[in-house]
Amino acid sequence: MTSSSVAAVILAAGKGTRMKSDRHKVLHAVGGRAMVGHVVAAVAPLAPARRVLVVGDKREQLEGLLPDWQVAVQDPPQGTGHAVMAAAPMLDGFAGDVLVLFGDTPLIPTRTLEAMVAARRAGDHAVVVLGFRPGDPGGYGRLVLAPDGSLDRIVEVKDATADERAIDLCNSGAMVFDGARLGALLDALDRNNAAGEYYLTDTVAAARARGWTAGVAEAASDDVLGVNSRADLALVERVFQARARARAMAEGATLVDPETVYFAHDTELGRDVTVGPQVVFGPGVRIADGVTVEAFCHLEGVTVERGATVGPFARLRPGSHLGAGARVGNFVELKKATLGPGAKANHLSYIGDAEVGAGANIGAGTITCNYDGIAKHATVIGADAFIGSNSALVAPVQVGAGAIVGAGSVITRDVGADDLAVARGQQTNHEGRAARLRRRKQGDKKQRA
Ligand code: UD1
Ligand code: CA
Repeated sequence: MTSSSVAAVILAAGKGTRMKSDRHKVLHAVGGRAMVGHVVAAVAPLAPARRVLVVGDKREQLEGLLPDWQVAVQDPPQGTGHAVMAAAPMLDGFAGDVLVLFGDTPLIPTRTLEAMVAARRAGDHAVVVLGFRPGDPGGYGRLVLAPDGSLDRIVEVKDATADERAIDLCNSGAMVFDGARLGALLDALDRNNAAGEYYLTDTVAAARARGWTAGVAEAASDDVLGVNSRADLALVERVFQARARARAMAEGATLVDPETVYFAHDTELGRDVTVGPQVVFGPGVRIADGVTVEAFCHLEGVTVERGATVGPFARLRPGSHLGAGARVGNFVELKKATLGPGAKANHLSYIGDAEVGAGANIGAGTITCNYDGIAKHATVIGADAFIGSNSALVAPVQVGAGAIVGAGSVITRDVGADDLAVARGQQTNHEGRAARLRRRKQGDKKQRA
């Protein structure tokens, strides 16, 4: 598909009332990405020459979100046809294929969009509609076919007869138009229908009336699930996750209990990665070959290199990087922290704004005190350094390569390479004193009795 041949219009001007949300509907996330982001990503490989986002209600939340997209304002919304009219000035003079998509239908695949464009071109149709056969056709518009199998018209449920309601082929909402004929079709729309709206779906009958043809491309139901409510959002998320799990396994990862592993839209797992139960991947995670992520981990914005081990019960926050063979164990939190190859933080630590050299060992309970209440500061730990258990490293601070920090230290000054630092209260032992104390207390007790 040549780059100048397709334009994309995404509709997102509806009110989304049933979400009961202050957030714009298309900004609700699926797989850690706003729904509208999924639609944008699906259409991107077609390299649309013009890109228009139609906004209305809560538009301030969308403006500026997609810098490469022009924004058309439709206010107040008067139907899907009216929404495309709002985009028309930005399509002026465009004679390629115009894809119209819904911002709340995030799972639509690129190959389906390509198939729609191909079908429109093959039949030289004025418009091709993406149909599907849902289990329950409910409120969807019904596709009425002509005897030759082409599309005759679309009837909205509100306007349908009982016979028309019995049709199981439904309108997904996605359509592709011949840009050269779109203007004439929009001009033909009116509001003489049950909803009193400009129906985009009426462009089909308008095309037939002009002697042009319309066609149908068919999608799998799961590909065109639309979101109107939180329950729909959860359903779409479930479909997204099922696909992500299947893909991860197909690409050579072991998911011990797939149903309990949650992926983001951009999670990358290498070969022979093992993921235990109850693991959540937020956006921006890349896991190299041979890594093990044990049960109950949460990762976001991190890269884990070959052969490293994470968890169980680890939290890796954005900006973290685990080198090859590094180990992060239970109840360890990393934030903007780099662990060099083979470095270890196996138990109960917070490591933030830190660089840990190759082979270094971070003892149980070590905390980088990165925040002084005003600003964040860095901790740098050299290769093969050893940080004793329960140490506090008060940043900004550096511990040199090969240095040792004694357990329980509060380190406030830099430690040189190969030095030993101990920063804790001196221990004093009092010979026999415990026994004497005990005897005295027992004497007191007898006196009181
Ligand atoms: C629409 C279709 C219906 C189809 C269904 C699929 C029409 C007339 N009906 O119905 O045949 O089966 O989608 O889900 O097209 N929008 C605007 N401006 C508006 C109205 C809507 O931008 O004035 C946007 C919405 O934000 C949404 C999309 O268009 O992204 C669909 O709108 P919605 O009101 O949900 O359409 P349906 O009534 O469900
Ligand atoms: Ca809808």
